[in-house]
Amino acid sequence: MAVTALDMVLKELEQDRSLHKPDQLRRRIEALDRLEACLFRTPNQGGDTESALYRRAQVLIADLEAVNRNLFQSIRHKIREGGGDGGLYEWATLSSEEGRPLDQLNGVGYDYLDVLVSDILQFDDPGEEVAPLAPEMVFYQPTPARHIFDLIRRAAFGEHDVLIDLGSGLGHVSLLTAICTPARCIGIELEAAYVAGARHSAQALNVTNATFVQQDVRSADFSTGTVFYLYTPFTGTILRDVLDMLKREAASREIRLCTLGPCTPIVGKESWLTAIDSRDIDQVAIFRSL
Ligand SMILES: C[S@@+](CC[C@H](N)C(=O)[O-])C[C@H]1O[C@@H](n2cnc3c(N)ncnc32)[C@H](O)[C@@H]1O
Repeated sequence: MAVTALDMVLKELEQDRSLHKPDQLRRRIEALDRLEACLFRTPNQGGDTESALYRRAQVLIADLEAVNRNLFQSIRHKIREGGGDGGLYEWATLSSEEGRPLDQLNGVGYDYLDVLVSDILQFDDPGEEVAPLAPEMVFYQPTPARHIFDLIRRAAFGEHDVLIDLGSGLGHVSLLTAICTPARCIGIELEAAYVAGARHSAQALNVTNATFVQQDVRSADFSTGTVFYLYTPFTGTILRDVLDMLKREAASREIRLCTLGPCTPIVGKESWLTAIDSRDIDQVAIFRSL
């Protein structure tokens, strides 16, 4: 049964030559996922038919991965050589194969854009060096790439903007914003292994407008920030303290807060903020100080 399923999937995908076109990234990644899932469900017990199917699957996987590798390498090369975002943002503004604008894609699951981004940013695996977090601090989980591109589009960062990502993890938000916009970006993160990973990625791509500070955000300097991003990095009293710090910043200048996840309704109750772009709960919300 599983052998038949693998055979059918292979026949369909082998015939579809459009999968080898560089611009068919989403469909190619979905095809690779289907192949991996089929192989997982089809144990190779060494029969002639199974072995032949396995060989065909491996050839197709290698071919499709090679197309991806070339595409990712060319984007990395352009970014490194100062060629702007190397076309990265274009992949995200409109999923052309679907004709579906980005802001209709809700939810916090990961998709093909995350495959693209993690290959472009090429983080070192922080492995087991990561220290346990104190209560109220939220464990590391990156913002799904489509939400970062959505933030970049809606926040319309200018050259005078300074984005501060509070609890920046491996630095996806700061790095992508620094690559795709003229803004200066600062990631503040407690975990040293994540900060080292983010710095390494910025250096390898020659991204000079993103910097990373290893610090508890409660002792950080917010004075240069114009836009603050929170993917629910902490809760409870820490969130309260940080919101009070931001309110003090807002007393002397206008700032924007961009949030994702369960912190959004809490931030939305702050009387010194107004929602400027209210969206679905699953999407990035943007607030500005009054
Ligand atoms: C949900 S992750 C968000 C990561 C990143 N902002 C992103 O969106 O991809 C939360 C991060 O906040 C960090 N964090 C939690 N409390 C912190 C604190 N008080 N100071 C600095 N970083 C903190 C955690 O280590 C974790 O990496």
